[in-house]
Amino acid sequence: MVRLRTGYVQEALSAMTDLVVRRLLVDMEQPIARHWCGGDAFRTALFDALSMSFPVGEQFFIDSVRNGFKLLPPEKQEQFRAEVQGFIGQEATHRRLHALYNGHLEKLGLVNDWAPRAAARMKLLENVDVRHWLGVTAANEHFTAILADFILHNADLLGDQDPRLKTLWLWHSAEESEHKCTAFDLYQALGGSHEWRLSWMRRVTVFFLLDTLRQTCNNLRRDGTLWRWSTWKSAGRYLFGQRGLVRLTYKPWREYFRRDFHPSQQESGASQRWLRENSHQFVPVGATPA
Ligand SMILES: [Fe+2]
Ligand SMILES: [Fe+2]
Repeated sequence: MVRLRTGYVQEALSAMTDLVVRRLLVDMEQPIARHWCGGDAFRTALFDALSMSFPVGEQFFIDSVRNGFKLLPPEKQEQFRAEVQGFIGQEATHRRLHALYNGHLEKLGLVNDWAPRAAARMKLLENVDVRHWLGVTAANEHFTAILADFILHNADLLGDQDPRLKTLWLWHSAEESEHKCTAFDLYQALGGSHEWRLSWMRRVTVFFLLDTLRQTCNNLRRDGTLWRWSTWKSAGRYLFGQRGLVRLTYKPWREYFRRDFHPSQQESGASQRWLRENSHQFVPVGATPA
């Protein structure tokens, strides 16, 4: 049991996971309704904000993992090859569908300020040791994995107005949970330090929360619903209520700061269940070469 908590054994176990790249059978050409998420202005604005961050963010994750993989010694590359290919393929597919999604948001009059801000920040990391890129990516992947698990456990809060977007969010969540170990394991395999891992998580947390808040408010302002009482009532409930996002994700977020933390210690049953029960919603495809 003690051995299972050490990074090496878990690294080897998780590197053996087969990441399937899936083409989602949804029609992203159709426009998106203003309040597609259960008719709720706040939840819609929050999910739309997250979607706006994905194309830029996920490209950065792909680059981190691809560049980190290239620096591994040959025998380690063999151990990681299939997983890295799966990771890149999954993130590339997410990027593509969220770019289409974001195109519809633009037509609704929303403006994506998050992506250019994130891109400018990433520029600062050019020529920096790739382990820092992976530290940033592993921290973001932890965020997305705990958020994904929350979304999968609270799928009803996505509403039923747009089954296509509901499927998109649940599929993305299932795959985020599925590949949550990849960046972390690469960071460890390249000798990334514990201190830097925590330091990046602290910074990523501040940026992620501020960016999410800013873009959500921006979306609500352009939607004309920022100053409605119902918007903030919904925000209070969704973030801090009995099934609140902040309330339920705080503990798993905190666990990242443990020295013996590994993403595989956190629950991913909801992801496996969704993928098993929804195989009619996607087609497995070949992965992108690492
Ligand atoms: Fe993703
Ligand atoms: Fe991811």
